[in-house]
Amino acid sequence: MKRTRIKTILSSEKPIDLVLIKGWVRTRRDSRTFSFIELNDGSCLNNIQVIADDLLKNYEQIKKLSTGSSVSVKGTMHESPGKGQKWEIHASEIEVISLAPDDYPLQKKRHTDEFLRTISHLRPRTNKYGAAFRIRSKLSYAIHRFFQDLGFTYVQTPILTGSDCEGAGELFQVTTLDIDNPPRSNGKTDYQNDFFGKTANLTVSGQLEGEMFALALGDIYTFGPTFRAENSNTSRHASEFWMVEPEMAFCDLAEDMDYAEKFIKFLVDYVIKNCAEDLELFAKFVDKTLMSTLETIGSKKFIRLPYSEAVTILNQSGKKFNYDVFFGADLQTEHERFLAENHFKQPVILYDYPKTIKPFYMRLNDDDKTVAAMDVIVPRIGEIIGGSQREDRLELLETRMDDTGVSREEHWWYLDSRRYGSVPHSGFGLGFERLIMLVTGITNIRDVIPFPRTPGSIEF
Ligand code: 4AD
Ligand code: MG
Repeated sequence: MKRTRIKTILSSEKPIDLVLIKGWVRTRRDSRTFSFIELNDGSCLNNIQVIADDLLKNYEQIKKLSTGSSVSVKGTMHESPGKGQKWEIHASEIEVISLAPDDYPLQKKRHTDEFLRTISHLRPRTNKYGAAFRIRSKLSYAIHRFFQDLGFTYVQTPILTGSDCEGAGELFQVTTLDIDNPPRSNGKTDYQNDFFGKTANLTVSGQLEGEMFALALGDIYTFGPTFRAENSNTSRHASEFWMVEPEMAFCDLAEDMDYAEKFIKFLVDYVIKNCAEDLELFAKFVDKTLMSTLETIGSKKFIRLPYSEAVTILNQSGKKFNYDVFFGADLQTEHERFLAENHFKQPVILYDYPKTIKPFYMRLNDDDKTVAAMDVIVPRIGEIIGGSQREDRLELLETRMDDTGVSREEHWWYLDSRRYGSVPHSGFGLGFERLIMLVTGITNIRDVIPFPRTPGSIEF
């Protein structure tokens, strides 16, 4: 007999004759002649109630079923007299697969997020984390849906790379050299003897490689893990996170911003339509303003605001920030959140940033001071997307590389793309975890990643 998921049972219109369900016991309570078992199998938020009567041959064993135990239940579906739930199961057979001892850490009470992080291997069994990771899965699918429906090609860019796309130097180096005793020449480590014959690191972004494919296939996207050794222990930064990076040939900054807005709106709408039950948990218990935030994102056109005007607004706001704001300052989360949460109360796309605070590949504007960069800023999170029109003019790109200390030699292949049939093109990167934070109201990035990696923390 085939196992039926609890989700299928709970959403069924009519009773199914005989069902086999398997899952983990959330709670058990006994009456005089019955045992009531709340069972969850992870397929949906809700448990199903299983009723075991004392005529079952292993009833004594059933009465020992503890929270966290795993069972297999054969039974029939009946309309539930209790409110909230359409169906319950009257068991004809219960097999105890494994009995969890009393020290099972997830007893029926509210646990803090901090505690649950210490048991990342068990936290997906809680309502909140089960819901968060089901939403994460649905959003992954929605990302592919969005781009595939628009005719984009999915490209897998390398995880091991020699380049530092963002030029911020926040790299995890990868080596097979004996780090206690590396080969040396001229007083330095000799990487010619390293695995790849030169230094290598984990990618911080698939963009540069993505551009090569956009300049061949037109519209592409990447979706994969990225790694940054930023030593910033914040609630919005992880050392390993996932990024979605579309890249569009024959596309300027204005169109790039339009794509970004359309993308976020699609994803928010997708979650509202396809994850209603899980979303309700977050709207009830995590962030009471969640649904109105999501509705605002869906209905309001995102503001477009030049960086220089944002600087003026921030300086005239009368609000005291920890970091000063001036033309050339890197905006901090406090500034971004002030703009999106307090000033505009909706998503804002800032554009035309000073070239001094942005990477080498962004297209220089005619003012020679700013580049065609854009960041999408949303309430509660701050920056969720960073993107730009790329510098497509060979000479200007070379100058920018020299000015920012990016090696032309190492990027000979990137420069080639501006030599042979260069065209205007643009793209952006969406932080996948920040998107999940946005749609769930979860405030710490550690709680939307199955097994988070942050400075000083790589358990599991
Ligand atoms: O703004 P970033 O650094 O842009 C890029 O990497 C470009 N190459 C993207 C492109 O144009 N193709 O990163 C993009 C997004 C950020 O807006 C943020 O949402 C997320 O990636 N991000 C992080 N998310 C979690 N932890 C971190 N340490 C992150 N760093 C960036
Ligand atoms: Mg950025």
